[in-house]
Amino acid sequence: MAETILRGRLLTFHGEPQTPADKTAHLYIEDGALLLDGGLIKARGTFSDVQSKAAEGTKTIDHRPHLLVPGFIDTHLHFPQVQVVASWGAQLLDWLENYTFPAEALYADAGHCAAMAVRFFDEVIANGTTTTVAYCSSHKTSAVAYFTEAARRNMRVIGGKVLMDRNAPEGVRDTPQSGYDDSKALIASWHGKGRAHYAITPRFAITSTPEQMDTARVLATEHPDCFIQTHLDENHDEIAETMALYPDAPDYLGIYERYGLLRANTLLGHCIHMQPREVDMLIETEARPVFCPTSNLFLGSGLFDYEGLRARGAKSAIATDIGGGTSYSMLRTLHEGYKALATRDGTKMHPLRAFYWATLGNAIALGLEDRIGTLDEGSEADIVVLDSRATSAMALRMETCKSLSEELFILQIMADDRSVAETYVAGEPMKKKD
Ligand code: GUN
Ligand code: ZN
Repeated sequence: MAETILRGRLLTFHGEPQTPADKTAHLYIEDGALLLDGGLIKARGTFSDVQSKAAEGTKTIDHRPHLLVPGFIDTHLHFPQVQVVASWGAQLLDWLENYTFPAEALYADAGHCAAMAVRFFDEVIANGTTTTVAYCSSHKTSAVAYFTEAARRNMRVIGGKVLMDRNAPEGVRDTPQSGYDDSKALIASWHGKGRAHYAITPRFAITSTPEQMDTARVLATEHPDCFIQTHLDENHDEIAETMALYPDAPDYLGIYERYGLLRANTLLGHCIHMQPREVDMLIETEARPVFCPTSNLFLGSGLFDYEGLRARGAKSAIATDIGGGTSYSMLRTLHEGYKALATRDGTKMHPLRAFYWATLGNAIALGLEDRIGTLDEGSEADIVVLDSRATSAMALRMETCKSLSEELFILQIMADDRSVAETYVAGEPMKKKD
């Protein structure tokens, strides 16, 4: 792969911005450039600096006046729910039963999985997301399709087949033994292959028997470097049903604790209605809460306590949660997140913090900050090119824009996939042109 220079306005973070005026946590270069080589960022700086480090005749792709930022990281979404998005009128448990499980049953078919994987990653890339952390269906075929398509595009992804052996129709259930065997086979084939990582994925306590939770415990013990992902405290009815199924547990998180599923590479989707003991346990184990604002608002689940968890030291991630979530766009997710936090307790998520969160913040939550989430030299060349004037309404608003923070807030509140001019995955432009 030949070296390439990308020219544009660079923005990358090296820490979490503490206040709206905090300029110490990011780097911004007005006439910036990146030298890409072999899927990595080889050099970064002003255009003239980078050009002087590049070989004579190196091709420059000029993205000015657009912003170059690290590719977005989506830390929780469901690959087999691409046709579940925008299903009307239900809260979590009915939504799962009426819409989600029937859609996921179709993923028993390998052809359907392969076709949907192409569509899924097309949407993800169109929205500037370069890393996904996905739940596949309970069928091994769905995880094979997910990892195969991601590998074809050379994307750094995390995923796993869902473990679920009860409280769901036969077409989406596995068994403790088949779930264990399929997960083992998928880990052997995919974990650490290219840019892929496996996530052991018990869907949530309602859909796994104690026998299956025990197999998840065994998998987690056998594979300490695999991620673990599940759902927690999303909805009041869900919590009541969970506690009825596990009456000896001190609380919902106590179930996952009992089965050895809490550690720093555990991702817990939602974490809305937490008890104080659960928060203590979350902090002690360093498991990561994942905020899914469009889903939480769409399903009427509730409002995530971002400030409370942050004050305790939790490293929260943010995610779309397709298809409970309503948009593949991390920008739209930040927009809804802003509204959700403002409604809960008046918190105003400021734009530097928002862009940090969808990039380096999520990378840190995944423990992958040495590879993704920044434009640092040596980092993988996953980059999104953002156009702040992509729509006429945005262009009109930009006419009075006076600062980088203001521009970022315009993107956070007004942008979607139309603002994604290009998405680079491991140095290759991937956004399909019409
Ligand atoms: N809890 C268990 N499964 C799911 C799911 O698919 N989506 C959401 N939002 N919550 C869940
Ligand atoms: Zn989910």
